[in-house]
Amino acid sequence: MFPRMRTRITELLGIEYPIVQAPMGYIARAQLASAVSNAGGLGIIETSSGRLDEVRGEIAKMRELTDKPFGVNIAQLFVRDPGIVEFVAEHGVTFVTTSAGDPTKFTGALKDAGITVFHVVPSLRGALKAVGAGVDGLVVEGNEGGGFKAPTGASTMVLLPLIAERVDVPIIAAGGICDGRSMAAAMVLGAEGVQMGTRMVSAAESPVHDNWKQLICNSSEGDTLLLNRNSPPAFRVLRTEFSTSAEQEDRAVIPSLQAVHDLYFGGNMEASFAFSGQVAGRINAIKPVADILRETVDECERALRDAAKLA
Ligand SMILES: Cc1cc2nc3c(=O)[nH]c(=O)nc-3n(C[C@H](O)[C@H](O)[C@H](O)COP(=O)(O)O)c2cc1C
Repeated sequence: MFPRMRTRITELLGIEYPIVQAPMGYIARAQLASAVSNAGGLGIIETSSGRLDEVRGEIAKMRELTDKPFGVNIAQLFVRDPGIVEFVAEHGVTFVTTSAGDPTKFTGALKDAGITVFHVVPSLRGALKAVGAGVDGLVVEGNEGGGFKAPTGASTMVLLPLIAERVDVPIIAAGGICDGRSMAAAMVLGAEGVQMGTRMVSAAESPVHDNWKQLICNSSEGDTLLLNRNSPPAFRVLRTEFSTSAEQEDRAVIPSLQAVHDLYFGGNMEASFAFSGQVAGRINAIKPVADILRETVDECERALRDAAKLA
């Protein structure tokens, strides 16, 4: 049975299913990431919160909660500690995704430390630059995804084949993927693995307040806003009164850490922004990570078999 779906991603990362949980500030921590790794995917620990003291504890917890592989994300826009490469290397991390920044900045040092590096890209230009910088693979992220985005970015459907035709490194697709049908589409378009953000926010093991999970389940595909389109960094959030009124401003500003926590863990959906992707419109239930992964893989295999019958 192991591994059921073999790609360069499962081989490179030593995982059973080529499904990666997205890095997400304060959310992508040991509770969620260990559930994903234990279910056969790859859990990722965030550093975008900037709280490396807490991240250190989360990495230690991962080692208690799972003996499976996991990764760490370096979201370059938010890195305040110049010793971030030494930080991940010291903690024995073997897989890193770098995002929101220049791929030439950390790739060399990470690779010198023996770490496998994937860079997150929103464009063909970014992809070619990352490959030139020597990355082992790419996370190709469409504009429909949740969180920080290139304001002029294209959707996953356009980006994936565009980039897959031009690079030889393995690709993890991100943006709009929540189940087997969307995973199968990504694989056909040239990916060898997928990353889920919004779906993992809604998972039973996600640490966010139930109000956020319910809002995802109740949202339609048109219920997200891309804020700061004209004054990057842009970010995609769920439609609330708070985000609708921020849309009228020239520049939407992330409120205080206290307000962020009030939304994330206190459930006050009007305190801050609930980063989420358009795929919220396809998510209707809060499910355990193991169910999400199992159902996704089963449905993906079925969809690929059905598609093959057309050929
Ligand atoms: C709540 C939230 C926080 C995020 N934070 C980060 C982050 O810290 N670093 C990063 O590279 N991407 C971040 N992202 C983007 C995700 O990694 C992922 O690529 C995106 O969610 C995929 O699209 P989807 O939401 O349609 O699954 C975040 C997304 C969400 C929803």
